[in-house]
Amino acid sequence: MLSPMTRPDEPAMRVRPPDASFSPDAFRRAGHALVDRLADHLERARRRELPALPRVDTDAERARWRLSAAPRGLDALPALIDEVVLRSNHLHHPGYVGHQVSAPHPIAALGELVAGFLNNGMAVYEMGPAATAIERELVAWFARELGLPADADGVFTSGGSIGNLTALLAMRELRAGDSAWEHGTRGKPQLCVLVSEQAHYSIARATRILGWGRDGALGVAVDAQYRMRVDALEERLARAREDGFQVLGVVGSACTTATGAFDPLERVADVCAREGLWLHVDGAHGSPAALSPKYRALVAGIERADSVVADAHKMLLVPALSTAVLFRRGRDSWATFAQEATYLFSGNSWDHAQRTLECTKRMLALPLYLLLECVGRDELARHVERCFDLARTFAAQLRAADDFELAVEPQANIVCFRHTPRGAEDLDGLQARLRERVLARERFYLVQTRLDGALWLRTTLINPFTTEADLAELLDALRAAARAT
Ligand SMILES: Cc1ncc(COP(=O)(O)O)c(C=O)c1O
Repeated sequence: MLSPMTRPDEPAMRVRPPDASFSPDAFRRAGHALVDRLADHLERARRRELPALPRVDTDAERARWRLSAAPRGLDALPALIDEVVLRSNHLHHPGYVGHQVSAPHPIAALGELVAGFLNNGMAVYEMGPAATAIERELVAWFARELGLPADADGVFTSGGSIGNLTALLAMRELRAGDSAWEHGTRGKPQLCVLVSEQAHYSIARATRILGWGRDGALGVAVDAQYRMRVDALEERLARAREDGFQVLGVVGSACTTATGAFDPLERVADVCAREGLWLHVDGAHGSPAALSPKYRALVAGIERADSVVADAHKMLLVPALSTAVLFRRGRDSWATFAQEATYLFSGNSWDHAQRTLECTKRMLALPLYLLLECVGRDELARHVERCFDLARTFAAQLRAADDFELAVEPQANIVCFRHTPRGAEDLDGLQARLRERVLARERFYLVQTRLDGALWLRTTLINPFTTEADLAELLDALRAAARAT
């Protein structure tokens, strides 16, 4: 039937195709220019010809990015890209020693571009056949590298926080008795996990999302190296049980965020085996230590975990986000979500949305896959080793200096320290001021953390272009900043 608005004598409406900006030619031109610019940027960043982090006022920055009244046309693209690049945090700059985010390998970044352009959503297999198969291959790769059994399986998520939540949801479903997914947790005892006091906040966030409130993640004391104390774990477990908690599992950190401490996973796994507890290992940052024969011992015991989270966008030179969530018994990876959605799920076991929080997701494993295929696993292992080695070298520099204090010997590639010039008072205030001053000079980006109540400067040596000499210069920059106070 004709709609009342359409008259039979009206010509058929013509749908306009997208304009010339959507053409292959326009893409080719813009793309070549873009890659040239990013390659120049890599060159300039590694030669320190840019600020590590440009210091700009938030309001001024907000004003700068106000949308134009009318589109500026494709000719504006190069200048726009230059502006974005210039005003960003430069992770390839040798002075970038900040948070745990990779300085991406260009091949992996190109993989991200391909993922963005193909945009295969991956909720179900037929939305992204290659991407889904690649994800399955890389889940198996991670599992092998970590020593999990051949039956292990899992899924990729957008980041370690979602990964931890995904694993803990499965743990709850499998260990809390009567399905919480079906019936909720009403009437159940207070559920909880035990976790190092130094664990990443995403664990406590996940247990709150699970509805367990502030007592859902009970903290276990750490030793002088910030590793979970196994005697404290046993004591906390006994106390929690006496207090009526149903303890479902233990979360081991490999490694922690603040100082890069590896919990003693082997001994934690012994406790879990004896007490019937699920062992989840948050290996978001440190699990790639398993790639290195030199540092593999740091994660000994990870292969006994029931579930593990491993991020590729931290230690493996891949752009954010790319996280593997692994389950030692492959079937457990189906326990997290058990929802019917007939418009989407066909019962195909390759439909990944049945196993993750995300419906549509990016082609999360593609950048790492390209890196492994084109550059190789051994180069990634060397990168991990180099970063961990550099942290030890930096610690040696700090120990040798009588005006710096090392918080703790680094286990991974995170080093916390502070400047202690003779006669200095208010050391906490001093560190904060020094950091601000050094950031203002734009040659370094470092961060800070509190340990046992005191403020420490914190560096993550994750950038392949940072050298020993850069770190010596950082110490001199801090000394100069202190003299200027
Ligand atoms: C130990 C640990 N777990 C989890 C996360 C969260 O990972 P993401 O930032 O990918 O969500 C981090 C982030 O720094 C981390 O250090």
